[in-house]
Amino acid sequence: MRMVDIIEKKRDGGSLSKSEISFFVNGYSRGEIPDYQASALAMAIYFRGMNPEETANLTDAMMHSGDTIDLSSIAGVKVDKHSTGGVGDKTSLALGPLVAACGAKLAKMSGRGLGHTGGTLDKMESIPGTRIDLSEQEFIDQVNKIGIAINGQTAQITPADKKLYALRDVTATVDSLPLIASSIMSKKLASGSDCILLDVKFGSGAFMKTLDDAKKLAKTMVEIGDSLGRDTRAIITDMDQPLGLAVGNALEVKEAIATLNGHGPKDFVELIEQAGSIMLEQAKIVKTQEEGIALIRKAIADGSGLEKLRQMIAAQGGDATYVTNPEKFPMASHIIPVVSEKEGYLTRIDSLSIGLAAMKLGAGRETMESKIDMAAGIVLNKKVGDKVLKGEVLAYCHTNKEVEESILGEVSGAFVYSKTPIKTAPIVHAYIK
Ligand code: URA
Repeated sequence: MRMVDIIEKKRDGGSLSKSEISFFVNGYSRGEIPDYQASALAMAIYFRGMNPEETANLTDAMMHSGDTIDLSSIAGVKVDKHSTGGVGDKTSLALGPLVAACGAKLAKMSGRGLGHTGGTLDKMESIPGTRIDLSEQEFIDQVNKIGIAINGQTAQITPADKKLYALRDVTATVDSLPLIASSIMSKKLASGSDCILLDVKFGSGAFMKTLDDAKKLAKTMVEIGDSLGRDTRAIITDMDQPLGLAVGNALEVKEAIATLNGHGPKDFVELIEQAGSIMLEQAKIVKTQEEGIALIRKAIADGSGLEKLRQMIAAQGGDATYVTNPEKFPMASHIIPVVSEKEGYLTRIDSLSIGLAAMKLGAGRETMESKIDMAAGIVLNKKVGDKVLKGEVLAYCHTNKEVEESILGEVSGAFVYSKTPIKTAPIVHAYIK
């Protein structure tokens, strides 16, 4: 088999066979196929797409390019969730403990943030001592003992995806539906859970800009997961404003804790109830979503979700007193209000602008080497649908840096107004199973 023939076939719109796809994935991850040929194939896939069978074969080959985790020694149904990435997305830190408190087993591998999107691992590290490098045995033992562990992904999981993703990042081939779907699903499938819930975001600040594209991506990923024997479902959620109020690492952890204490922002609570009830259904703990929502609400009201987060942080070596006393999180030295110069009803809060501004305040990495300021970020004071008067505070910028005026301008520019009231949509736009 020759790589040049595989590139030519895809360039001309052909469908690649399972053996051609394996030849590429294995050859590329072993370093036998050079970057220039892999780039050419990625670009051909970008323009020609892949049929469902090719996409499933690509996922399977990438999943088997490294270790797969065997969770069979954990009793009960193992559930996992994955978000395609958003601004203010602290969902795993509240949803994970809640579903675990309701009896599901959550063995989750998470990632770090890059650019304007945050990552669960960075957020967890805002609690001193928290380890995200558990060995496979420690990870499994912890889930068996307390029902939940959130860990970093080891270098041995899907090495082919790591290499191909880095290449796509610099060859303008990231936003190809089959490449995104196979990249996400290969990692989720290698992580070993029985059930997967995907939260596919759309809007500014998300990979998919439109509801239609998000639905297509979700359907592709659900088909891949199902065809490889996992109960895979997806919700399509809105990123036309950041999720909740807080954007930035410690600020988001505090918001997750407040939510587990029963004081969460409306959209975030709605997302957790919807996603949690589906995961409990997948774990066969409830029969209907209504029952699931009732269980999630109970785990918030009786404090068992909060206790589960406390147990997880303690088990991973973190200072769990931060969970019980969140005022221990350091505050930024500057908290600067951004004030509205207009009056009206908010129709949109551009997530990309808020995410980028939070990053410039210190909350994110501009390069892989940048150090994160855990206290930095943005806390919204208004959400879509709210009426805003001239002079009212739209958001607070938290930072330890001297703030440039332009960043405050970027934050206020993210708020889009209408003269008339608007009706807000539910956060979940579609459910695919
Ligand atoms: N997230 C991934 O893991 N892979 C992609 O290709 C896009 C988002």
